[in-house]
Amino acid sequence: MTLLADRFGRTFPYLRLSVIEACNFRCTYCLPNGFQARPGRPEPLSREEIARLLHGFAAVGLRKLRLTGGEPSLRRDLPELIASAAAVGGIESIGLTTNGTLLDRRVTRWREAGLTNLNVSVDCLDRERFQTITGHDRLPEILRGIELARELGFKAIKLNAVLLRDLNDDQMPAWRDYLRERRVTLRFIELMQTGDNRAYFERHHLRADGLEQQLQDEGWRLLPRATDAGPAREYAHADFAGRIGVIAPYSKDFCAGCNRLRVTHTGDLRLCLFGNVGIPLRPLLQCDDDRPRLVSALRTQLGLKAIGHRLHEGETGLTPNLSTIGG
Ligand code: 5AD
Ligand code: SF4
Repeated sequence: MTLLADRFGRTFPYLRLSVIEACNFRCTYCLPNGFQARPGRPEPLSREEIARLLHGFAAVGLRKLRLTGGEPSLRRDLPELIASAAAVGGIESIGLTTNGTLLDRRVTRWREAGLTNLNVSVDCLDRERFQTITGHDRLPEILRGIELARELGFKAIKLNAVLLRDLNDDQMPAWRDYLRERRVTLRFIELMQTGDNRAYFERHHLRADGLEQQLQDEGWRLLPRATDAGPAREYAHADFAGRIGVIAPYSKDFCAGCNRLRVTHTGDLRLCLFGNVGIPLRPLLQCDDDRPRLVSALRTQLGLKAIGHRLHEGETGLTPNLSTIGG
């Protein structure tokens, strides 16, 4: 088997697949007015289409899959999707990125279906502010869901918090208490500018370097980067069971370690989160006999992946907000 590789020697064992566009939250940086269903929009990929897609990617080296949204748990067939991904040879880990609203009710089933990794968005540990940021007063049940998930033997549980000036930049003491005894990784994500959130970005973007300096001053040690690690820089501390990661898309080497491809809920291949092209794969997912064509399309497209994003120049690409592509 030949691994997918681009012109810069990067290989792509990692696929992030959006399984639904809709989301029930209204995060102020993403969907401040909530998800608007528009009639006539194409349906998300079916289970059969997704299975064909995964077999195609597996044939060129897919090992790590992450299901994203919108909010993937809004798909009723999520357990079946997880189970069908688990049945594809070569896929070693299946992760889910969720806002956590259905976690306490569903996580046991997802784990039984074969889910191995869990990422939950928790922007703030203060209940009222959590509601201000996400539009929903759901923090207590989300935290309960995380406690339940911790009993289920996931390979890793990560919590994501988007760093927001004046909204959640005072949460370190609360996070310290949270991480002392819990073996989870909290990841601070620098706010990214998207097509929709320019004014918001100006107001609330906060660089992560100040936070990293603070962590180092408090004795957090930067861990050596695993070869297949994502873009996070991860810190550990002897007094804490949990870890803290920092994802800074505006840092200069962010793209060098890029090992991921994305496919949207309608089956468009995105080579970069902030790229300007989406390559429609859906026509190649209509019958099992199309697999060779799918595989050769994947090889061709990857040859075209650019070396890095152009966010610094204010180029946000096709992405109006991250709900369409799952971050
Ligand atoms: N900048 C940074 N992170 C974002 N997310 C959504 N929109 C943005 C943005 N503009 C995060 C969510 C979630 C993950 C899927 O992406 O908070 O943790
Ligand atoms: Fe929030 Fe994620 Fe939904 Fe966007 S897609 S509104 S970030 S939960």
